[in-house]
Amino acid sequence: MGERIFNFSAGPATLPESVLKQAQRDVFDIFDSGIGILEHSHRGKVFDRITHETEADCRAVGNIPDDYAVTWMQGGATSQCYFVPANLLPPDRTADYFQTGKWANDSIKEAPLYGTCHICGSSKATNYDHIPMGGEVSYSDNPVYVHFTSNNTIMGTEFPTEPENIPAGAFLVADTSSNMFSKPIDVTRYGLIYAGAQKNLGPSGITLVIAKKSIIENPVRELPQMMQYRNHANKEGRFNTPNTFGVYLMGLVFKWILEQGGLEAIQKINEEKAAVIYDFLDSQDFYTPHAKTDSRSLMNITFKCPTPELDKLFIEQAAAKGLDGLKGHRSIGGMRASIYNAFPKAGCEALVDFMKSFAHEHAGAATA
Ligand SMILES: Cc1ncc(COP(=O)(O)O)c(C=O)c1O
Repeated sequence: MGERIFNFSAGPATLPESVLKQAQRDVFDIFDSGIGILEHSHRGKVFDRITHETEADCRAVGNIPDDYAVTWMQGGATSQCYFVPANLLPPDRTADYFQTGKWANDSIKEAPLYGTCHICGSSKATNYDHIPMGGEVSYSDNPVYVHFTSNNTIMGTEFPTEPENIPAGAFLVADTSSNMFSKPIDVTRYGLIYAGAQKNLGPSGITLVIAKKSIIENPVRELPQMMQYRNHANKEGRFNTPNTFGVYLMGLVFKWILEQGGLEAIQKINEEKAAVIYDFLDSQDFYTPHAKTDSRSLMNITFKCPTPELDKLFIEQAAAKGLDGLKGHRSIGGMRASIYNAFPKAGCEALVDFMKSFAHEHAGAATA
């Protein structure tokens, strides 16, 4: 087997090494059953155990109370853009949405198919370089829910806290795909949380959904069976054949988080890792960060060289040194370092070493 390199990919992304090694063994034979995890029936005893452990460990990690359902669905976080309003937004009601980047916009496009969509805060005018806060936020009179993208993977911005002072009677809905379980989360502040697994939780093709049971009990309109949250929740994520490997791998990742000391410990490590890169960015003027200081993401760090040509060279030369996946999304260009839970601090240090030498070599370009 080859050497592993530092993978800064935004997702699918770096997973814990111990999880990958366990999975290697379990693909061949899990729990001494003589059958590998990919081959077990989703209705058999082995998968019963995996389902129950994954749910229990998820509840332990997130301190999730019994009046919340924990389930998983397919169709990616992108399908949640329509599952949410289809289940929760009646035709004569309004839902409020924060417009903080591409993933928020994907939700904003779907909501009007079901009800009224009010944009309660937007940073579009400055290419989503910050999270709208304070006077930039204006809720509608009586929204059913307030939707926000807790971490904007492309822009490198993150809500420092949940949106404050939402109108009475409304509940929060969050797309937490790119910072789920990167720090403690009080799920009781939310009606519904969804997260595509492929950043912090596991492989692609599975979406974790945590929802207050009373909210998903009765969809606000008639819906196909597969679109109803309650069916997935009531059947332990096995309404149809789930992504069994995804459930299994998320379960291993939850166990890994617990072994690290839980979400407080994970947050501390994530803050230390991000500080390695942000402290350097703040100490120099060759690279320009995209996100405003008060909105910086702990997970995705976005920055640019003085010219697009240098960005290209940076990405090529970094890759040649084993720093892979640093190309920024086409909508903002530049570089993006994704440093999710399982990404090692040594990789952040290696990136800063490279950034220093690259800046030194091309220093003239900054003033040219
Ligand atoms: C915050 C956020 N939401 C939604 C998505 C879309 O996820 P999927 O491709 O699983 O539908 C992504 C993907 O990167 C994301 O980062």
